[in-house]
Amino acid sequence: MTQNSRVLALYGSPRRESFSGSLLENYIKKHQLNDVTYCFIKDYSILPCTGCNSCKKTGSCVIKDDMQKLYTLLTTSSLILTSAPVYFSSLPSQLKALIDRCQPLFWKQVANDPLRHGVLFLSAGSFYSAIFSSSITTIRHFYKTIGVSFDRQNSQFYYNTDTKAEKFSSFI
Ligand SMILES: Cc1cc2nc3c(=O)[nH]c(=O)nc-3n(C[C@H](O)[C@H](O)[C@H](O)COP(=O)(O)O)c2cc1C
Repeated sequence: MTQNSRVLALYGSPRRESFSGSLLENYIKKHQLNDVTYCFIKDYSILPCTGCNSCKKTGSCVIKDDMQKLYTLLTTSSLILTSAPVYFSSLPSQLKALIDRCQPLFWKQVANDPLRHGVLFLSAGSFYSAIFSSSITTIRHFYKTIGVSFDRQNSQFYYNTDTKAEKFSSFI
């Protein structure tokens, strides 16, 4: 894994052939992005945050696992692409574990870099009110913590993927 790639592609679905992952891949193709580090989060060993708060004092996490490979990429990649399915109106646990382990970066107060952006690709099997709200709120918080600006314009949300997928275009 390179430590300074321009684009970090995070696959939040545990499924290898995923709807949300295909949205991300279409975006990479459409924009002819290269220098991409592809991260299938399911293949990484990322333990859940224990809330020990050591990172508040030390700025680093006491848990030594695959998350250590990601901290530099999360804070230096100029574009972060995150894809995920909606699980119980929220994010899959593998991705949520990665996000929670960014708590050291929260305490470090990583400054926002206006040249770094984060795009989001979500898919949901059905449709109901505020179906994407929880996931979007969490990802906004995640992007803010790692110092990137949320690019809402280029983000894509699809619902009813378990029947006939439709693009969600309402303003959020
Ligand atoms: C554990 C689990 C929980 C799910 N929860 C929801 C949900 O709360 N709302 C919904 O609309 N779809 C839900 N779904 C359906 C997925 O969001 C949907 O199939 C999605 O498009 C799959 O994306 P993927 O192909 O990228 O994995 C759930 C699926 C699973 C496996």
